Amino acid sequence: MKKILSALIAASLAASIGLVSAAPSVEEVKADITAFQDYFKKKFPDVALEDYKDGVNVLPQYAERRANWEMLMEFPAYEEYAEQGVEEWSTPFANGKTFSDCFEGKPAGNQYPYVDDEGNLHTIETDIRDCLEANGEEKIKGSSQKMARLTVAYKMQANGQPVDIDYSSETMREYYEKGRQFYWAKRGQLNFSCADCHVLNAGNRVRGDVLSAALGHGTGFPVYRSKWGANSGKKPLGTIHRRYSGCNKQVRAANFKALSDEYLAVEVYETIMSMGVPIQVPSQRQ
Ligand code: HEC
Repeated sequence: MKKILSALIAASLAASIGLVSAAPSVEEVKADITAFQDYFKKKFPDVALEDYKDGVNVLPQYAERRANWEMLMEFPAYEEYAEQGVEEWSTPFANGKTFSDCFEGKPAGNQYPYVDDEGNLHTIETDIRDCLEANGEEKIKGSSQKMARLTVAYKMQANGQPVDIDYSSETMREYYEKGRQFYWAKRGQLNFSCADCHVLNAGNRVRGDVLSAALGHGTGFPVYRSKWGANSGKKPLGTIHRRYSGCNKQVRAANFKALSDEYLAVEVYETIMSMGVPIQVPSQRQ
């Protein structure tokens, strides 16, 4: 009896400090991806897998606003930011090295996040952060305009390539599981999970917005958002973690820092669910 009790206490302690249960197997993740993508195939039969890179713009419920988006895409406001990012990417550090030196031999933009041989998780943003540090350069914030521009500069080189994540490592599947639990857990004063809005209610309206499908999330990021450009001191470009933070705030839930373990896990989960969707960076959003 005593033994059972202490095992129970140990388990609930583990849960309360956020340790996740065992990582699912490769086969379980594979089955999850299939079920997830099939759900959207049934829900939106006319939307092809590759179209989900365009976010909400691809949903039939958004059709009337799509023309406006297509017009914006013809003369994309994000272009100057992408160009600036490319320039910053190739500007040598004080020691003469560049970002390209750090990224030599790294996976392409459609293969991020990845786990290295030592079991560390990398996103493009964490690699940019680590590269600056390794070269004795000044830190930049994980959600800053500069971080977004530099991420665009690297990721856009893989535009058109389908998301292709290697989840063979246990570490990757632990992050996946943590992200999955975060994604489906109700949170905030409004008691909504990410999945409530972007899976169960995808295509429905909330406060005048149409909710995008979770499938494809992240493939267009960093994005140029008209709203960010207009509202927040002209910071129109945003990383995926900036968007997560905005969504957490919408339901008045605690939001986490860019590059926090929580958002890294959500990024892993969303990206793995979007296997096969091509990336398109930067993208224009409302
Ligand atoms: C109350 C509903 C709601 C909840 C809950 C919510 N979001 Fe959102 N989310 C939105 C709305 C509205 C938008 C803007 C329209 C769109 O693209 O869906 C958005 C946009 C996004 C986008 C941008 C998609 C793109 O391609 O531009 C991502 C990514 C995202 N949400 C992730 C999340 C994550 C992760 C969570 C949980 C932490 C979450 N959302 C919770 C309402 C919600």
